[in-house]
Amino acid sequence: MGRFLTRVAVVTTEHEGERHGMTINSLTSISLEPPILMISLNFGTRTGDALLASGTFAISVLGAKQEAVARQFAVRGGARFDAGDFDETEGGLAVISGALSQVECKVVNQYEIGDHQVFFGQVVGCRDRDGEGLAFNAGKFGAFRDFHHDAMPWSF
Ligand SMILES: Cc1cc2nc3c(=O)[nH]c(=O)nc-3n(C[C@H](O)[C@H](O)[C@H](O)COP(=O)(O)O)c2cc1C
Repeated sequence: MGRFLTRVAVVTTEHEGERHGMTINSLTSISLEPPILMISLNFGTRTGDALLASGTFAISVLGAKQEAVARQFAVRGGARFDAGDFDETEGGLAVISGALSQVECKVVNQYEIGDHQVFFGQVVGCRDRDGEGLAFNAGKFGAFRDFHHDAMPWSF
């Protein structure tokens, strides 16, 4: 799956007054009506444990210039919120300023599969902006460019 080029996002949550967050690329769209997305978190991540307890999370889809944010939120045990600019969702969750999308979700289902906990989140709020996305492939970050090919008929 390392050869399956993905975009990069940060998932954030809050539990007992403490913010948690980590870099992910397991983000997938699941349903449109109602809007539901899915994320898959390794057992034992601080963010996953906090998310299990809180039942809410937010997603920040990173832009091409936010590689440093992706690295900051992937260092194990590292401080995540000491540096950087953050906005808040309506529900009060921290999201990354300048991210292409900021999405707030409530957990509607969750499963343990293998060594991961899979969360299904129903979207309760969303903001988005145009911009070049941050990509990840074979362990390296890069830019996901718009090649100006014809859009699919269902694109938005
Ligand atoms: C590009 C990228 C994508 C990642 N995607 C995931 C993911 O989808 N699920 C996961 O559990 N870890 C993923 N990781 C690893 C976590 O970001 C990393 O283990 C993090 O330190 C966990 O944070 P925490 O334990 O402090 O919450 C990814 C790392 C990178 C660099």
